[in-house]
Amino acid sequence: MQKITTVSLREMKEKGEKIVALTCYDAAMARLLNQHEIDVVLVGDSVGNVKLGYENTLAVTLEDMLHHTKAVKRGNSRALLVADMPFLTYEFDPREAVRSVGRLIKAGGAEAVKVEGGQKILPSIKALIDSNIPVMGHLGLTPQSVYMKGGYRVHGRDSHEAEDILDQAKTLEEAGVFALVLEAVPSALARDITNAVSIPTIGIGAGLDCDGQVLVLDDLLGLSEGTPPKFVRHYASLRAEASQAVKKFKLDVKGKKFPGPAQVYD
Ligand code: KIV
Repeated sequence: MQKITTVSLREMKEKGEKIVALTCYDAAMARLLNQHEIDVVLVGDSVGNVKLGYENTLAVTLEDMLHHTKAVKRGNSRALLVADMPFLTYEFDPREAVRSVGRLIKAGGAEAVKVEGGQKILPSIKALIDSNIPVMGHLGLTPQSVYMKGGYRVHGRDSHEAEDILDQAKTLEEAGVFALVLEAVPSALARDITNAVSIPTIGIGAGLDCDGQVLVLDDLLGLSEGTPPKFVRHYASLRAEASQAVKKFKLDVKGKKFPGPAQVYD
């Protein structure tokens, strides 16, 4: 299997080959994604709300990310393994950013990190890249700014905000970021950004013209609770199936139908 690197992603953009990315939080699922040759596996800080029961991503700690990145590392060999930097571990102190990221790379086995934001966090991004750490950017809806930005909403619908996101994308490219996640932005804006930068764009709620697509794995599998965002497509309904399975098991145990002859030892 060909190992995917930041260079492979750039080549895929140049060839017009779409990049397939998914979030992942454990070794078993990482092995499954590896089997299907997913290009980028992102240990998203969405682990906070998807797996750890936090209300949003703000409570996620570096220890949480380290724990899950190590697990995903054990199941992955092909994909580029990217880990999210948790809220307030990188934004304003470049030295702290390098120290925090260093743990995810050295102890966690991440091959790159993702940070949210543009101009304001540029000194940290530059310090990371100067330390030979590949950085993925994230613009548009940035969940770590949920309180500042008044909730989860589409970004870049008005021309002023759209121009700002386009400028930030160019700034991040100039700083040396190797790829950009564009979340919840109008398709036309994502297309303009994709055409304006030479680094790959990976969309989530950003239309078909991005160089690649990413989804939260639990959303794709229909495992997440609650109403999914508009951009999610369910490829399975595992939550409903799991619910049925647990219900049947309970009925079988209460009704003395489990274990049956096939599940007992002589
Ligand atoms: O944390 C995450 O899952 C993400 C993706 C939505 C891109 O950042």
